[in-house]
Amino acid sequence: VNQGNGVKGLSETGIKALPDQYIQPFEERLINKFVNETDEAIPVIDMSNPDESKVAKAICDAAEKWGFFQVINHGVSLAVLDNVKAATHRFFNLPVEEKSKYTKEKSLSTNVRFGTSFSPRAEKALEWKDYLSLFFVSETEASQFWPDVCKNEALDYMNKSTTMVRKLLEYLGKNLNVKELDETKESLFMGSMRVNLNYYPICPNPDLTVGVGRHSDVSSLTILLQDQIGGLHVRSLASGNWVHVPPVPGSFVINIGDAMQILSNGRYKSVEHRVLANGSNNRISVPIFVNPKPESVIGPLPEVIENGEEPIYRDVVYSDYVRYFFKKAHDGKKTVDFAK
Ligand code: SIN
Ligand code: FE2
Repeated sequence: VNQGNGVKGLSETGIKALPDQYIQPFEERLINKFVNETDEAIPVIDMSNPDESKVAKAICDAAEKWGFFQVINHGVSLAVLDNVKAATHRFFNLPVEEKSKYTKEKSLSTNVRFGTSFSPRAEKALEWKDYLSLFFVSETEASQFWPDVCKNEALDYMNKSTTMVRKLLEYLGKNLNVKELDETKESLFMGSMRVNLNYYPICPNPDLTVGVGRHSDVSSLTILLQDQIGGLHVRSLASGNWVHVPPVPGSFVINIGDAMQILSNGRYKSVEHRVLANGSNNRISVPIFVNPKPESVIGPLPEVIENGEEPIYRDVVYSDYVRYFFKKAHDGKKTVDFAK
């Protein structure tokens, strides 16, 4: 496999059959059988509703029942979203010599990483996806090390989304009895951020593989911008069905991550999701992972367990939790057992 140029390079050689390394076990491929788009759908929430308590309630309900929702009229301008999408295409369209400057082996910063699949060394079957992962440390560090073709757009996207992120966390926090996002809560809920640029090239045998395998995110909250292609599926807590997340122009897909599930003592759900490979279109997505500060100790919040509720998770250092996640292949919701 030509890992240096990612699956995009592989796709562009015009291969007619999926290389064996990408063939997923049968049970990981059986998705469409379980999907019925008309039956269930994740909520779409209009954040501009003047009745803010309604917005807050819809968000908290969705976080409990689905762990996933979409938001529209969220206050981040379309231009910012279009710019980061264009920047994502620009980055992946760079020649291989340029992109490979950011591989694990060559990148000048550990916070910038171009890679393919999820955890190639741990995986029995690879995923049909390339990515550029940008961990935010400071504006100075970003402007020095993030690739020129996308750094301003990625930074702007992250910065302009922060107001909405804070709003979402305030709503979710209030419902857990967290009065305000003070310094302590900020560092637990949004103490660090990572922006990923994801590229899912056209796949010769999409039915045999996946774009991303079943997993839950380790974030506190994930903010996802997707293009119009589609393919993200979420496991319904109510039925166990895989439910498609239809692209809604100008929206964000928001999901609860493991850290928030742990902090809320299981009230908010970090839900399994996956992305199908696509036989006729290239797809991009641009998630912002809103995370605890790496050195934070995360466990059920005092506000949640002060009424005598039994904590169902132990305290863990967030960076240990993340390290554990990246050490293994995608494996559904198993990471959260680390905090049991
Ligand atoms: C992911 O959850 O890892 C990717 C989601 C997406 O690309 O839609
Ligand atoms: Fe994810």
